[in-house]
Amino acid sequence: MSIIMDGNGRWAKARGKERVFGHFEGVESVRACTEAAVEEGVKYLSLYAFSEENWNRPADEVTTLMKLMMSSMKKEFSTFMDNGVRFVVLGNRERLGKELCETIDKMMEETAHNDRLTLILFLSYSGKWDIMQAMKKAAAELSAEEFQALSAEDFSSYLVTSGIPDPDLMIRTSGEERISNYLLWQTAYTEFYFTPVLWPDFRKEEFRKALEEYSMRDRRYGKVK
Ligand code: IPE
Ligand code: IPE
Ligand code: MG
Repeated sequence: MSIIMDGNGRWAKARGKERVFGHFEGVESVRACTEAAVEEGVKYLSLYAFSEENWNRPADEVTTLMKLMMSSMKKEFSTFMDNGVRFVVLGNRERLGKELCETIDKMMEETAHNDRLTLILFLSYSGKWDIMQAMKKAAAELSAEEFQALSAEDFSSYLVTSGIPDPDLMIRTSGEERISNYLLWQTAYTEFYFTPVLWPDFRKEEFRKALEEYSMRDRRYGKVK
């Protein structure tokens, strides 16, 4: 399953605080949902943490967010090891700092053999970027003939999400009902769940509510049942 974690700024604003306080509190929701995912037996949890478009936010907010990513990752490392969490970060690394990339690589390597939950953080990611980089990679690797013969399934293996199942459920918090350039290709048959709850308030109970609602969905994949 996957979550578009939205509403941190509004959560802070409602309390008369700076937007970054919402981001700090949002980290607690990440922790709670990761725990809930482990408890509920969810195998893959994908979180949209920072879009390519988010680089256009005020510089101080971007800087604070990047620092927060780094410190939160480091802080959670031992919890990931204790709970069998494989940690993966996906996105366009071009604009990420060297130190952050090194931390990410190290954590991905050290948690690679954990198999209880795969936690994927989408950082500096966009769905269109992913499709574009996949297309370019495939074009560079394959002959013209092979490229023409490429199936949708084969193409998926060029996306950065290669090996990760498409999400069954996509949650978006904060009342917005859009994809905001997140997983475009991978959500072809995903169930969507929208809630007005702001991300810093989205904790275990809300997570379970979403799973319960999902369990009542009827997925048809275009067929007649
Ligand atoms: C989500 O909260 C976090 C990121 C996009 C990084 P926002 O910062 O978008 O909060 P709102 O939508 O402005 O309330
Ligand atoms: C989407 O939230 C990106 C993340 C949650 C990381 P935004 O707040 O950036 O999306 P828009 O601008 O409302 O579509
Ligand atoms: Mg937002």
